[in-house]
Amino acid sequence: MNNKFEVCIQKGGQRDQAESFARRTASQIVDKPGKNLTVLFDSKGVSLTGYGLTYQGDFENMTHRVTNGRLQHEMLVRAAKSEKIGRKAIDATAGMGEDAFLLAAQGYEVTLYEQNPVVAILLKDALRRAKKNMILKEIAARMKLVEGDSVECMSGLLDPVDVIYLDPMFPARQKSSLINKKLQLIQKLEPPCSEETDLFDAAIKAGPDKIIVKRPLKSEFLAGRKPSYTLNGKAIRYDCYTL
Ligand SMILES: C[S@@+](CC[C@H](N)C(=O)[O-])C[C@H]1O[C@@H](n2cnc3c(N)ncnc32)[C@H](O)[C@@H]1O
Repeated sequence: MNNKFEVCIQKGGQRDQAESFARRTASQIVDKPGKNLTVLFDSKGVSLTGYGLTYQGDFENMTHRVTNGRLQHEMLVRAAKSEKIGRKAIDATAGMGEDAFLLAAQGYEVTLYEQNPVVAILLKDALRRAKKNMILKEIAARMKLVEGDSVECMSGLLDPVDVIYLDPMFPARQKSSLINKKLQLIQKLEPPCSEETDLFDAAIKAGPDKIIVKRPLKSEFLAGRKPSYTLNGKAIRYDCYTL
């Protein structure tokens, strides 16, 4: 039995989805959220609660970043700039999909891989809600979530891909000022981390035109490999490898 989190189904929650998630993750179904981590299915969708905090993925709070000409100011968008029509990207470390959302807003068809089942179900639910939002639905329609290990999945790709994006930073490794309080909940799941070198090697083997890696500003290059060029921000940077 999984002892990291429990599952709770409340009024309006998707019972089938919750039961299948509980089976898949070998988690216990409880009547109400306890003080430990609980994946809660209710009328608002799926959320993660515990330690006095609640977290739900939400693309609505990104609206201001993708509207009124602000998208072009995003560093990731500048790093992924391309004139090509019908561009395809892979986000091999999806997390809550915020970076992938920026790529999709830019016009990329994005496949998102997320291996942690709790993060994946929170993201799936956030995408479901975004698809109902008049402003966000067109962007969300370009995002396809696959639950699984991207190192494995990238070795069996059938279609060519233009950009592969890697953000293997975990909150524990980020500066504390970068950690959103609610994301501390996700950190408690202790998601298993792929070896950075494995991720990078799998990305290279997939044969994209470009790999973009998000790094804390002062950290070493991922897998020790020098990028073609870098875009620097205040706390993070994007290392770009043109292949
Ligand atoms: C720092 S978070 C990514 C945050 C994301 N860029 C965003 O905008 O929300 C890293 C995520 O990558 C996932 N991850 C790490 N290695 C992975 C792999 N090999 N396959 C799929 N997901 C992976 C982790 O479970 C974690 O959720």
